[in-house]
Amino acid sequence: MELSNNLFLTNDKNNKNLFTENVNKAAKIIADSYTSTKAYSGLTPEELKKLISGIEILPQKGEGFDKVLEKVRDIILPNMLKVSSTDYMAHLHSPPLLESLISELILASGNQSMDSWDQAPIATEIEVDVINQLCRLYNLPKTADGIFTSGGTQSNLMGLTLARDWFCNKIENHDVKKLGLPADYNKIRIYTSEISHFSVEKSAHLLGLGYNSVVKVPVTADQKMDVDILETLIEKDINSGLKPMAITATVGTTDYGSIDNLIRLSNICQKYNIWLHADAAYGSGLILSEKNSTRITGIELCDSITVDFHKMFLLPISCGAFFVKDKENFSHLMLHADYLNREEDEEEGYTNLVGKSMQTTRRFDALKVWMMFLSLGKENLSNLIDKSLENANFFYDLIKSRDDFEVVTKPEISSVVFRFYDKNISNEQLDELNKRIRRDLIHSNGIVIGQTIFNKKVFLKVTLLNPMVSHENLENLIKVITEKSVQLR
Ligand SMILES: Cc1ncc(COP(=O)(O)O)c(C=O)c1O
Repeated sequence: MELSNNLFLTNDKNNKNLFTENVNKAAKIIADSYTSTKAYSGLTPEELKKLISGIEILPQKGEGFDKVLEKVRDIILPNMLKVSSTDYMAHLHSPPLLESLISELILASGNQSMDSWDQAPIATEIEVDVINQLCRLYNLPKTADGIFTSGGTQSNLMGLTLARDWFCNKIENHDVKKLGLPADYNKIRIYTSEISHFSVEKSAHLLGLGYNSVVKVPVTADQKMDVDILETLIEKDINSGLKPMAITATVGTTDYGSIDNLIRLSNICQKYNIWLHADAAYGSGLILSEKNSTRITGIELCDSITVDFHKMFLLPISCGAFFVKDKENFSHLMLHADYLNREEDEEEGYTNLVGKSMQTTRRFDALKVWMMFLSLGKENLSNLIDKSLENANFFYDLIKSRDDFEVVTKPEISSVVFRFYDKNISNEQLDELNKRIRRDLIHSNGIVIGQTIFNKKVFLKVTLLNPMVSHENLENLIKVITEKSVQLR
């Protein structure tokens, strides 16, 4: 059996030409697939299933790259959600900056794996340098360190893992790494607001602490954790023999973008010797704004921090990071493997990042941050963030001025939760109507917005990460929703 000699990108001239040709062909069909301003083609799940049915993905003989590219052109690209469309306002899901698409190509072509230096020499040095510079950007102390992650969920899991290990080791004198959970593990408590991200509970489950260990603290009207109630709950728990281990603050809640009071939470943590984790998956991007970065003041006081670059920072999935104030805490994750991260490597100046990560094989996502920061610079990035915040305020004011809409709270970042409202319709009917409006926007208009629950009622949501969204887009959204509220009733 003969193997083709153009399987890989090598120094061979033909391989290089083939790579360049294929990249150009792919780039062309991708660019050509942007044919309108719509965020979605409108196809239903059934229609999509029909479109791909009958494609046997492992034929005896392959079809070849060109034929497959045609399928991608005809079936996949037209029905991909266009996240860069100004009609896409649903989730914390960024339109990726143009330059960062090229970063993806570069990092995929190189396929570096960040677990050990010998799999990623320059990539390791870049990641270490990006992390160090980010520590400075967030005003973290010299003892701080971090690592790139797959995103907020993994970073939150890391925060709570290190919190658990710190708590068991330092406070309970129990080596959880060796021995597993202490006998009275079910007394451990994690406090977080009732609207924090579900990955907090998921982490508690994965860490063997269970959902019951998570105390959901009520929020105030502006959707921030009620710190007075929190302190009362902690006191009550201590008095009944429970063990407060961590507080997870949300720096930008998923729905409202509300930011918990980090300074007050940090004081409470110091008073009761509790770990403070900041889930800044959303709000971490505010650091780039010259005008608004003070909204996340106090982040430097947290023991660990979740940062997501595939949200406000406008980078492609996946790209997240996790930081700890005291790098000693990373030792909980360290495990030496003879084949990968020998102790002598570190002594000789070869950094193997696997020791700080939950993953082994890991992407060179740091390149995306490095290239974006360098390409755009502080001023441009600050303007991009501020435009989204300004849009959210504009939309809030627009809705506030009308009596056929309701809005939950003034945006602190770039999300607005609202609903169409008519005082002559029951809440059940309003729930149905708002749900139908959202679905119809997707399938009839190619406009994709979010939906959530507030006070047991269905609400709609716009998440305005895309700075290209204009005031006209937002006015048009209100107009279309108003029209649908009549048509769909
Ligand atoms: C506040 C918050 N934390 C964590 C996450 C999870 O992040 P990821 O989707 O990157 O895992 C999200 C996702 O939207 C979020 O909004």
